Amino acid sequence: MAKDKIKVGVIGLNDRGKYLLSLLLGMEDVEVTAICDLDQKLLLESAGKVFEKYGRQVKATTDADYAIKRDDTDAVFIFTSWNSHISLAYEAMRAGKYVGVEVGPGASVDEAWRLVRISEETGMPCMMLENCSYGEKELMLLNMIKKGLFGELIHCEAGYMHDCRFFADDLKNERAFHYLRRNCDLYPTHGLGPVMTWLGINRGNRFLTVSSVATKARGMTERYKSRHPDFDGEFRAGDLVTTTLTCAGGETALLTYNCASPRPYSRGNVVQGTKGIYSEYVGKIYVEGHGENDKWDDLGNYREYTHPLWKDKEKIQGLGHGGMDWLVLRAFVEAVKNGTDTPIDVYDSAVLAAVCAIAEESAALGGKPLPIPDFTDGKWMRRKPGVKSPYSLEGPGMWE
Ligand SMILES: NC(=O)c1ccc[n+]([C@@H]2O[C@H](COP(=O)([O-])OP(=O)(O)OC[C@H]3O[C@@H](n4cnc5c(N)ncnc54)[C@H](O)[C@@H]3O)[C@@H](O)[C@H]2O)c1
Repeated sequence: MAKDKIKVGVIGLNDRGKYLLSLLLGMEDVEVTAICDLDQKLLLESAGKVFEKYGRQVKATTDADYAIKRDDTDAVFIFTSWNSHISLAYEAMRAGKYVGVEVGPGASVDEAWRLVRISEETGMPCMMLENCSYGEKELMLLNMIKKGLFGELIHCEAGYMHDCRFFADDLKNERAFHYLRRNCDLYPTHGLGPVMTWLGINRGNRFLTVSSVATKARGMTERYKSRHPDFDGEFRAGDLVTTTLTCAGGETALLTYNCASPRPYSRGNVVQGTKGIYSEYVGKIYVEGHGENDKWDDLGNYREYTHPLWKDKEKIQGLGHGGMDWLVLRAFVEAVKNGTDTPIDVYDSAVLAAVCAIAEESAALGGKPLPIPDFTDGKWMRRKPGVKSPYSLEGPGMWE
């Protein structure tokens, strides 16, 4: 029977964690029972927020182990940074908890496999909380794809294009460690998550190969040098990284990462099918037989394809990145309440984690295509439609 209310622990309370904690505190069917951060100051700040909301203290600890191995939690949210995500996820699944883990670049394919094995052994779901999979445009495109508007898909593009040179200001930040030492797409999941849903990855389709090339690294190095003229080092992460993926279904996908250049934010979504195309850069859509022949059309003429989760946009748009933070948390919470698998499941989470590591190796080999493991171990060919839920992200071939 579905639970009316779930109890959760929250680990990692800096900018991202504290914001998502505030969203969780606003949910009537969620009770935060433990909070954790290595940093006492951040811990106390969040403890104050929880007290303000509940009128009582909850367990506040600097020990993640203590926050995880508790009888009074159903689920653990991991909002720490990139070096601890996955190992904390292992620990939480082993403790019998649902895991909701923030996005980040995986370190190795083995690490992703372990995520799958531990989830299979413990029966505990693990969801990488890729909020862009619940973006308004991304879900509208999923809806259009499911309804056959684009025909059969042949190619998708997406990415993370965001001027993040400010991360070079503080080399103590965990992300800077990666920018300094890893030459790859360090934030593939914002593009990859939606692309996976559009292409039905792990559900009738799978990625076969990853090939990635990176430019020279200038943006972060120049930013750091401008403040520390004596610095004679180099950041390793190329300013612009282009990654191509091939699929068992015959489609290709292109991911772009551009986080160290002056440029406005974009996720560069493109969906090309046998009947039409949407392009974020053009800001328009073209579908054969709709609108004028050979002319881009306004997306506004396709409002009927608004995803049901976005029909009440006004209610959610203030709730994190235009509302998608709220939706991804709700998707996870609903799964925990109903005791079902999460819509982004452990196989998806493994792909989301592993692509960075494989692309890193490919870039080191000058763009050599490398295989991506089938984390489902063949299940992608025979999976039945998953849980029927408003938050389901199942793509072509898997819906009612
Ligand atoms: N999906 C999105 O739109 C989005 C947006 C921002 C950040 N993020 C992701 O959220 C995560 C957190 O982002 P941030 O900017 O707050 O990171 P951050 O590095 O500034 O903060 C991480 C916090 O986790 C704590 N921490 C680290 N290891 C810990 C451990 N073992 N036990 C307890 N606490 C620990 C640190 O003390 C720190 O306070 C990152 O992975 C980031 O990629 C996602």
